[in-house]
Amino acid sequence: HTGVVRRITCVGAGYVGGPTCAMIANKCPHIAVTVVDMNTAKIEEWNSDKLPIFEPGLEEIVKKCRGTNLFFSSDIPKSIREADLIFISVNTPTKMYGKGKGMAPDLKYVESVARSIAEHAGGPKIVVEKSTVPVKAAESILSILRDAQRTNNTLAFQVLSNPEFLAEGTAMKDLANPDRVLIGGEDSEEGKKAVAALVEVYSSWVPRERIITTNTWSSELSKLVANAFLAQRISSINSVSAICEATGADVSEVAHAVGFDSRIGNKFLNASVGFGGSCFQKDVLSLVYLCESLHLNKVAEYWHGVIEINNWQRRRFADQIIAELFNTVAGKKIAVFGFAFKKNTGDTRESSAIHVCKHLLEEEANIAIYDPKVEEKQMRMELGLTTSDDKVDKLVSVFSDPYEAAKDAHAIVVLTEWDEFKTYDYSRIYESMVHPAALFDGRLLFKRKEMESIGFRFFGIGTAPNHLTKVGFAAPS
Ligand code: UDX
Ligand code: UDX
Ligand code: ADP
Repeated sequence: HTGVVRRITCVGAGYVGGPTCAMIANKCPHIAVTVVDMNTAKIEEWNSDKLPIFEPGLEEIVKKCRGTNLFFSSDIPKSIREADLIFISVNTPTKMYGKGKGMAPDLKYVESVARSIAEHAGGPKIVVEKSTVPVKAAESILSILRDAQRTNNTLAFQVLSNPEFLAEGTAMKDLANPDRVLIGGEDSEEGKKAVAALVEVYSSWVPRERIITTNTWSSELSKLVANAFLAQRISSINSVSAICEATGADVSEVAHAVGFDSRIGNKFLNASVGFGGSCFQKDVLSLVYLCESLHLNKVAEYWHGVIEINNWQRRRFADQIIAELFNTVAGKKIAVFGFAFKKNTGDTRESSAIHVCKHLLEEEANIAIYDPKVEEKQMRMELGLTTSDDKVDKLVSVFSDPYEAAKDAHAIVVLTEWDEFKTYDYSRIYESMVHPAALFDGRLLFKRKEMESIGFRFFGIGTAPNHLTKVGFAAPS
């Protein structure tokens, strides 16, 4: 090692900062990594036996490295001062006010970190943006830092873009064995040195050919584009699921057949009740906002379609539940299996479950939720954001046993693809329900024939209920 980077500080101890730093500490025993956060309760949790986030494999690494070369601290100024390299891993949620409301990412947290760095640096630093930011955000960060340099000539800053591509639930695997690491920097002597320093950190475990270096703006844009392409694949297959339901084609068969084309590829083609998570919607909206700012309205419209199909899919699924329960769900118990935005995570941000439940609550359904990882207060908090607290209190109940959730229910609605959902005794569940009992599969977990043979009325995304299969079509009007 050239030893350019011996101390790393990461500002933001969330889903990105925590796991990323745990992995760096684990793979780079020669580097001391400190993760800081303004939320002191979160830092206490990182220092306790119960970590604030659940990721398979995370706890083992944290326990192994914590106190040796991995530290969690609330002393932000000190950690900034001591670091050679600083990751900015704070949240960049969609702005909920002012210019760009509902579209642009909110950069106030990133900016406040830049200001803290300017104030406490005390010497040269490499500053790395890890949070997903709009193109040219590095420039704003740099302006703030350069301003501090004017009054203190011992300061020197390089700003790099190093977006994170990890997915939740597989974060540790993705970090240990990434498809690629992307590092963008300034095209200058100093810029190249900074890029090389970060390349060296990752080279401790990532093969050099998988570390891609680009200019700063390409790196920033690539992160938005990668998420937009992934989201677009899901909206594409979800749009096809609607055609399948109306015709008798089966979306799994179509996805399988299409995915065999090596130019298309077979991954990420699972039709669903819609994508969720903290990134896809936010990043597509950020891309749309960027296009609008550049007056590329056709391009903005094109990408906005990805979001529109996603919202439509959620609404369509909820409407189908209501229609199939004889157009009224008021007062009926409906069991909801799964609230997390996908399996193997307790994260509920932008989960499609929130939207489907909202539509059902508008129709006064009694919803009984079971999720193996999401805590009750989290579900109530999310639902309370779009439905009045009174209504949530009155209509929502949360169960720790799926069999209890389904007992006396008119329907089961599957919204997350937890593996354990496939292992239950559905004959027993069916017997305990109100008949006719329906199963709405929003995640392609079940085989229609099996569920129908138990007695369920079965409705799956992208497969036609038998009575719906049409033989001929009217020409479009
Ligand atoms: C995503 C990207 O995968 C990751 O690279 C980026 O860094 C952050 O955003 P994440 O949001 O954690 O990661 O989860 P991901 O596995 O991509 O799933 C997102 C949503 O899409 C989930 O709701 C998931 O259920 C849904 N999905 C995914 C589908 O509906 N069908 C699929 O085929 C794949
Ligand atoms: C296409 C399909 O590839 C083939 O599987 C199907 O059976 C018939 O349609 P073809 O039209 O012969 O085949 O050519 P293809 O190589 O797919 O190119 C189609 C067009 O897309 C061309 O104008 C090509 O220049 C353009 N293209 C292709 C791009 O602009 N960019 C690309 O990355 C790829
Ligand atoms: P991500 O998914 O991008 O990691 P999270 O919301 O999980 O986002 O984590 C971001 C973390 O950044 C939060 O714990 C938040 O408290 C922290 N944070 C935000 N702004 C600052 C700041 N100015 N200084 C320190 N920590 C911050």
